[in-house]
Amino acid sequence: MINRLKSKPTSIEAINAAILESASTDLAHAFTLPAAAYTSEDYFEYEKETIFQQEWLCLAHVSQIPKPGDYLSLDVIGEPVMVVRGKDHQIRVMSRVCPHRAMDIMPTGFGYDERGRVKGFMCPYHSWTFDLGGQLKGAPEMHKTCDFNRKDFGLVTFRSEIWEGFVFMTFNDEADAIATQLADLHPLVAPWQMGEMDVVTELEWDLDINWKNMIENWMEPYHHMGIHVKSLQPLMPAKGCWTDEYHPHYTRAHLPYRQSLVDAMQAAEEKGEHFGSFPPIPGIPEAYKTEWTVHVGYPAYLMLTGPNCALWYRLLPISAEKIHLVTTILVNKDAQAHPDFEQHLAAETQILKDFHTEDIEVCTAVQRGLNSVAFQHGRMSHLEAPVFQIQRYLASRIRATGHAPAVLPLANCQEARQEAHQEARQEATV
Ligand code: FES
Ligand SMILES: [Fe+2]
Repeated sequence: MINRLKSKPTSIEAINAAILESASTDLAHAFTLPAAAYTSEDYFEYEKETIFQQEWLCLAHVSQIPKPGDYLSLDVIGEPVMVVRGKDHQIRVMSRVCPHRAMDIMPTGFGYDERGRVKGFMCPYHSWTFDLGGQLKGAPEMHKTCDFNRKDFGLVTFRSEIWEGFVFMTFNDEADAIATQLADLHPLVAPWQMGEMDVVTELEWDLDINWKNMIENWMEPYHHMGIHVKSLQPLMPAKGCWTDEYHPHYTRAHLPYRQSLVDAMQAAEEKGEHFGSFPPIPGIPEAYKTEWTVHVGYPAYLMLTGPNCALWYRLLPISAEKIHLVTTILVNKDAQAHPDFEQHLAAETQILKDFHTEDIEVCTAVQRGLNSVAFQHGRMSHLEAPVFQIQRYLASRIRATGHAPAVLPLANCQEARQEAHQEARQEATV
């Protein structure tokens, strides 16, 4: 009898070896990630260190904090941070940890909101106060403390950058600029002018899934013919979708509209009407007027450009099997000025809710399957190219952070796999 529990690779080294082996082949020969890569807390801790503490993470869109004093408070892989627009209109990402005795200066449960507009910050523990740039302004009863200089006790500011209106941060001072990493993507999405758009819908989701489960599902269009058979498949059939070549910093897939829909759009245009809700975005290339284009900037910047809006999902992993997700819609000023904007917004929000609900139902069920002793890893269709590209990215992180096994045990893995298959066959014939 095969011991399925024992046959699952669960150590960090074994998971990495499996990822490196699969990523070194091609999509036709590759396997999906080992199940434990989605369920192991040890592996998630390893990913925090080698991915989330090294890479750029997208936290906000500039339109969410338009005025000085506007802030968003959020936890980034366990680190309490806030995104704040200062008096100088600059956006900063700062720690919420008080430099006095480490209290969270904006803790929920102490009457602080997760977002809002303030003139400054006051730590609830001993009432130290900070300005919008993080400088310590007031520290009561500290005048008898020797050599205490307020200048030395500001809030820590993390490295941040704005790219196309999105606020990115990194804990890694050595990382290449996000604008450098996404330089090849920039001309492809610049026509949407996302920096001038506004987030007009935000829906929050606490999900019991692994972050990679989420990004794989977001990126691959194969599942249109399954879970989205009634929602997205009639608009963007899985079979017509395709993926750009591998890029080290992002993956990008094209979801073209069905031909009958393209014909209907053209007929509407000839009558001077526009198809769908929000008005079309002016100046986007012809090919993009009839497709959705989905992106993941590695590791977890989920962004979609469409003919009349953009979608952005803020994904913050919490543990191996938990994420906090905010799904948003962004539109330009023309869309907001349209007399039917409220109607358009309600319709588009409902569409987003409906197809996202299908996605999370399936992702949650997949997460349960990944915990089963019956599943180790699977194979991929050619329509799942982004899933393989994500795997190649993960392999590049394993190599970059020196966590690759000293000798890649390709032969061992193949032998182990053959043994497992042989045992499974024997078991099936008993
Ligand atoms: S810990 Fe913040 S004022 Fe004391
Ligand atoms: Fe989906």
